[in-house]
Amino acid sequence: MKGSIPDDKLEEIRRRADIASLIGEYVTLKKAGKNFLGLCPFHREKTPSFTVSPEKQMFYCFGCGEGGNVFSFLMKLNHLTFPEAARHLAAKVGVNIPERQMSREEKERQSLGEQIRRVNDLAAGFFMETLQSQAGEEAREYLRKRGIAEEAVRTFRIGFAPEGWSRLHDFLKRRGVAPELAEQAGLLIARTGPAQGHYDRFRGRLMIPIEDVDGTVIAFGGRIIGPGEPKYMNSPESTVYTKGNNLYGLSRTREAIREKGFAILVEGYFDLISLWNAGILNVVAPLGTALTRAQVDLIRRYTGHVAAVFDPDEAGRKALTRSLELFLAGNVHAKAVILPDGLDPDDFVRRQGREKMEDLVAHALSMADYYIEQVLGGRGTLEENRDKLREAVSFLSRLGDDVDRNLFAKKVAEALAVDEEVLKAEVRRVLARGPATVAADRPKREADLEMDPLELSLIRMILDYPEKVAEVRESSILDHFRTEALKSLGEAILAAALEGKTSRDAVYFVDGLAAGPLREKLLALLVQESPYPPELIDRLLADAIGKIRERSHKEQAKLLTRRIKEAERANDLALSERLIAEKNQLLR
Ligand code: UTP
Ligand code: MN
Repeated sequence: MKGSIPDDKLEEIRRRADIASLIGEYVTLKKAGKNFLGLCPFHREKTPSFTVSPEKQMFYCFGCGEGGNVFSFLMKLNHLTFPEAARHLAAKVGVNIPERQMSREEKERQSLGEQIRRVNDLAAGFFMETLQSQAGEEAREYLRKRGIAEEAVRTFRIGFAPEGWSRLHDFLKRRGVAPELAEQAGLLIARTGPAQGHYDRFRGRLMIPIEDVDGTVIAFGGRIIGPGEPKYMNSPESTVYTKGNNLYGLSRTREAIREKGFAILVEGYFDLISLWNAGILNVVAPLGTALTRAQVDLIRRYTGHVAAVFDPDEAGRKALTRSLELFLAGNVHAKAVILPDGLDPDDFVRRQGREKMEDLVAHALSMADYYIEQVLGGRGTLEENRDKLREAVSFLSRLGDDVDRNLFAKKVAEALAVDEEVLKAEVRRVLARGPATVAADRPKREADLEMDPLELSLIRMILDYPEKVAEVRESSILDHFRTEALKSLGEAILAAALEGKTSRDAVYFVDGLAAGPLREKLLALLVQESPYPPELIDRLLADAIGKIRERSHKEQAKLLTRRIKEAERANDLALSERLIAEKNQLLR
């Protein structure tokens, strides 16, 4: 499972990687005692139950039961295999894993996702070089005219796809990339009809790499130079790229977003690049589609505050209504920034400058207030008012949260000058009709596993104090366990210790268990500080062993008493004598 990465390298990664700072890149964490707390990236929650223990180098979420170590965190978050997560971490912490250590087979086995990322990165390099070459002259001039400076070009790895049908194709071929793979990455297109082979998807376009939060290229947006149709040509979705699950620019702006405490949400690639270029660094943009819940969740990892830019037109209003629902559901405080005269942020910042833009953002209305006052509010004709009322009812009934709904109902009633109770009754009527809201916050959890508490605490003691394994082995106490799952886990810990693998890092043990209630339970226990103080551990362990043994003996004694009675009833004296002797032995 660990692929070809040698154990000593894994060990080195493990030693160097600090789980709190690694997870801190993706989740905003706050110190809480020895641990850190944050909002779980694996399920939706409003109050933090995601716990990271630097001491144990593990994480656990009390809300959804997800837990593990640095490797499992990355695997789960970015859908990576173990070797992928390990390589990623290795690069981060500066452990060198020679590429040569990857066998041919392994390269072939490498997940499609990883291969697509590599091809995209190669292509990004090719496009960047081309932009700086003679072929990129016109494109460079275009960027200059738009005021995009060198630094932005470098930071966002902007490139140029040359004219011609097989420039990238040939480049990739020289690099040993199969055209079929590049096709899956969306870079090449297979010819149809009798002709064979592949041709370049992007030709004569300014290339804007779309990166995941870690800065790996997962797709491209290609802009035509100057006017023309289609303005943008984008990579199709692939195993590594789903438009609705990613945000443009986040890899380059997440730190600024965290520092500023909020994100500015704009519509287009160029809006983002242009704001960044003007010195406004805390920006993100969706990828040509309406904002999604997944994107709000992604933003929420870095900040709970967003200033979203909308057009003042009808389309902008629709987008605002929808985003408002998403932000409310995602527990993000949102402000609505409305730019004058239908300017987009790129136009605005270039004409008015950074400070004016920042002013506008700072003074923006809360999105909810904007929606109620500007979209719903204001008197119109009777018909317009009826439409607004209908929209208000529909909006209110889609809110997943009762508190939000009541709060809004009051404001909406005021803005529309209707009776609050009438409005609420109307909303209730709509709600009664069917399940309009989908706000299942809590993931389904398996029923708690029945586990003997004494046995569980004994297992926990040897996980907290690996040096006590020998004592437990000598006592043979596992033979007396009732909980099968705990018995096998105990046996595995003992066996591993015999092979010289101490469970110095207990998390790695528990992490290896199959997903299920036992694994969850143990992770939950481990992430908390050990309740067994070192000065008491010897006594506590002896007590636990004693109690388990005593209980087991009593049970056996009971069983023997019953069998003795049966033997006596059957007049089997020999058997009864043997059983009595056995019982005496037991109770001695
Ligand atoms: P815009 O037309 O506002 O693009 O579309 P822009 O980024 O501001 O580009 P410039 O300033 O005209 O150069 C907003 C976003 O919609 C998607 C892109 O993600 C774009 O950034 N889009 C737009 C496409 O995918 N294809 C298109 O043809 C147009
Ligand atoms: Mn634009």
